[in-house]
Amino acid sequence: MPGKLYGIGCGPGDPEQITLQAWKILQRVPVVAVPQGRKNTPGVAAQIIQHHVPGTTRILPLEFAFSHDPATTTRLWERAVQNLLVPLQQGLDVAFVCEGDSSFYSTFTYIAQGLSAHPEIEIQVIPGVCSPCAAAAAVGVPLVQQTERLLVIPAFRGWQEVASALTHAQVIVLLKMAGQYPEIWQGLNTNNLLTSSYVVEWVGWPQQRIYRGLASYPNLQLSYFSLMVIRPQG
Ligand SMILES: C[S@@+](CC[C@H](N)C(=O)[O-])C[C@H]1O[C@@H](n2cnc3c(N)ncnc32)[C@H](O)[C@@H]1O
Repeated sequence: MPGKLYGIGCGPGDPEQITLQAWKILQRVPVVAVPQGRKNTPGVAAQIIQHHVPGTTRILPLEFAFSHDPATTTRLWERAVQNLLVPLQQGLDVAFVCEGDSSFYSTFTYIAQGLSAHPEIEIQVIPGVCSPCAAAAAVGVPLVQQTERLLVIPAFRGWQEVASALTHAQVIVLLKMAGQYPEIWQGLNTNNLLTSSYVVEWVGWPQQRIYRGLASYPNLQLSYFSLMVIRPQG
């Protein structure tokens, strides 16, 4: 009988923001699969769970693309699926760990799709704390209240998309926005939204930074692990 695959969301950084359900699975599975970081360094999920995994557990590093080249991305997803199938077909349970939540812009979703050709492999998704919720908690403000609408955008396309989002929702979360920050800052400035916005970088990590009142920060050099929340109504 094949092993079972768990897709475990580990939260965005603080190792204590992992669920009890995830922790229990990490205690008992024989194999933990971790996305590798750049240049074969441990990825962020591997760092988050490092103290939660018994020393006897086998760690299976998997390579994923850091570029937007679709051919490379697909090739590495397919290879990751093949690498996961080896222990699974030996009957070993495997926990695939990902940072944040496992269904929220997560690599695990592509792994699960890749395994759909193997219906004999049972998959269970274990949710985790996603970065926007952790960021709101770190800043100490609600993310959304009552009838407010929330729109989450991967913001590679810059200000125009953000401007459009502002016509549809009261609270906007921008992910993957580091490279677009200066252009977004200009748009916020033109629309008097700098004081209604905040940026959280590396939420839950020792290097966490919170920037509120963005008027003083037109040129932040942000890490990929940064997000912005725009809340025009305070
Ligand atoms: C591919 S998405 C992964 C989202 C993740 N699965 C989650 O549940 O938050 C990556 C984006 O999420 C945001 N992000 C993830 N972790 C973060 C962290 N610790 N601090 C700030 N932003 C984070 C950033 O905007 C980053 O560009």
